[in-house]
Amino acid sequence: MGYPVRRMRRLRRTSALRRLVAETRLDVADLVAPLFVREGLAEPRPIATLPGVVQHSRASLVAEARRLVSLGIPALVLFGVPEHKDPAGSGASDPDGVVEVAVRDLRDAFGDDVVLVPDLCLDEYTDHGHCGLIGRRGEVDNDATLERYAEVALAQAAAGADLVAPSGMMDGQVGAIRAALDSAGHDDVGILAYGAKYASALYGPFRDAVDVEIAGGGDRRSYQQDPANGRESLAELRLDVEEGADIVMVKPAVTSLDVIAEARRELDVPVAAYQVSGEYAMICAAAERGMLDRDAVVLETLGAIRRAGADIILTYFAREVAEILGGERATEA
Ligand code: PBG
Repeated sequence: MGYPVRRMRRLRRTSALRRLVAETRLDVADLVAPLFVREGLAEPRPIATLPGVVQHSRASLVAEARRLVSLGIPALVLFGVPEHKDPAGSGASDPDGVVEVAVRDLRDAFGDDVVLVPDLCLDEYTDHGHCGLIGRRGEVDNDATLERYAEVALAQAAAGADLVAPSGMMDGQVGAIRAALDSAGHDDVGILAYGAKYASALYGPFRDAVDVEIAGGGDRRSYQQDPANGRESLAELRLDVEEGADIVMVKPAVTSLDVIAEARRELDVPVAAYQVSGEYAMICAAAERGMLDRDAVVLETLGAIRRAGADIILTYFAREVAEILGGERATEA
């Protein structure tokens, strides 16, 4: 060799060396499990597009949460599926609504041993499937929706939420919710804001999970972001921090690694990323057909989300990753 070769491979030689020099790692403490609970169910119901994920009954939700908490998962995001939907999404702010009941059940069962984070939106509760109220011209009315979000936040806080997670992408939603919580004495309830949220085709399976169909074949492009835009995400995230977000979230995850990295660089609040339903479903489907190694791809994608800078990851794989990391399942990791 006539020239010096820098021996990069020296530190890759053994598994112990690789472990020693790993720049990032996955930790159960950074994982959040999204869970669905459906009003009026006696037994959990499978979700066809999300293999292994179910709509929980009240009882099965508590049982699954017990397993997750015992595995060391610190937080749960809760989505409610109400029995009745209406134009205002009344069920979302009902003190005895499906998510409020779920929060109370889980708080009773686990006290402060788990962080409870109800998703704060209207789409699961409206008959038209939009994340806000429909105005006179058929548009999603931003400011009227903010008033509903404030009511939902108060109901969720009263039920015992640690954090509320507004996901509707209305302008000013974090500020409106912060003001409502503070004026009702809930200044200790935090906001995990879906700050950068793209109008993504990767939410398809989720809509089955919560029985949402957008009226008239509509979409959410007038309020969620255009996936073409990156700069705009930082503006959205900055606004959320200014309005009082305690944690900001980027979603989907693997298609937004640039945004996650920039958010981590530019902001001083924890940054969460949501590996959404379509990201989950793609891996499940390919693994089921023998096209790739499920555990390895799960760990690699979550690892990439961490490497991009996410402090917290929401993933439907939370339980199995906790089992892998805890040594309850053998893998080549
Ligand atoms: C809206 C909401 C959605 C998701 C989380 N909150 C759906 C949407 O914006 O259409 C998607 C989550 C996923 O796909 O896993 N309440």
